Amino acid sequence: MHKAYLILTTAQFISEPLDTSKIAKESFSSTAPSNIALVKYWGKKEGQIPTNTSLSFTLKNCVTQTELKCFRKEIKNNTIDFSVFFEGQLNAGFKSKIATFFDRILTYLPFLVDYDFEIHTQNTFPHSSGIASSASGMAALSVCLMQLEKALNPNISKGYFNKKASFIARLGSGSACRSIEGPVVIWGKHPAIKNSSDLYGIKTAFDLHPNFKNYCDSILLVDKGEKTVSSSVGHGLMNSHPFAKERFIQANNHIEDIVAILKKGALKKFITIVESEALTLHAMMMTSNPYFVLMKPNTLKIINKIWAFRKSSNLNMCFSLDAGANVHLLYPQNEKEHTQEFIQKDLLQYCENEQVIHDSLGFGAQ
Ligand code: PMV
Repeated sequence: MHKAYLILTTAQFISEPLDTSKIAKESFSSTAPSNIALVKYWGKKEGQIPTNTSLSFTLKNCVTQTELKCFRKEIKNNTIDFSVFFEGQLNAGFKSKIATFFDRILTYLPFLVDYDFEIHTQNTFPHSSGIASSASGMAALSVCLMQLEKALNPNISKGYFNKKASFIARLGSGSACRSIEGPVVIWGKHPAIKNSSDLYGIKTAFDLHPNFKNYCDSILLVDKGEKTVSSSVGHGLMNSHPFAKERFIQANNHIEDIVAILKKGALKKFITIVESEALTLHAMMMTSNPYFVLMKPNTLKIINKIWAFRKSSNLNMCFSLDAGANVHLLYPQNEKEHTQEFIQKDLLQYCENEQVIHDSLGFGAQ
């Protein structure tokens, strides 16, 4: 049994030897959402350890649905054997990503070698569109794997379950560790945030001000193509980035600012931090060696439209960006009607096939 604890170290995530004979054939399902970072994670150390603390809103509608079918092996070997089906079709691309993930997590879930797995997965949003499908995908798979661990060891508590799900999701894709819970998650050790850890995300302990309850995020799909530079390459370039040190200090200061803003309901200050973070992320890309640009002309057109409309309407909308060209438009629930009218009238023209996904704050994986 796991004792009461608040902060866990790596060793505490290694499962005790478990008797797999009690589960010969079983299936587990999970739905996990994407998330949008308000304070961005960009740069990491060995072992998927972030170079600064990040904070995100968990989304609700952009989810990955995963089913993990487990078949206990007749003849054991020392490898994790699995096949991956994406939207009903065998998928070799995902298979190699998940193989790397399994290699990283085997130490923590050694009983996985006792099974043959079939992974069936699908998204409610376009894959590789700049919406973090790796975040929701790795989070959903991690929750399924933890369901198997819990079935083998019913003693594990809900707190341990969530922390370990986040811990292993992090080893698949850093930002995935922020998709297990919601509506606001912090990942990365920060002196001002009690119980924060580099190893997993934690749900914020404070009450979100009513101004931010059900906060909306409309994702404007500017470019749905594959990204030209992957996030892992981008993170790697921060190791030798001339402005890295200052950036990490700034991000950690922004964490304290945004926490105070989310508690107080300070909508105008929220705009300043969130937009600064989005543009700083892309500024880091543009000043890396080699440099690269992931924004598209329509990304900038949308940003300028948002600024002009915000000035004339005095609404509280602001934008965020991930590592891609798409624009996340964030706004309070009570401004939904006006903001969505503006999207329809002024922004859809800049989206590929006029596509937008309306989402809002959610509560994590199920
Ligand atoms: O989780 P990764 O390795 O794909 O990195 C994602 C980084 C950003 O989405 C750009 C920022 C963030 O904190 O989510």
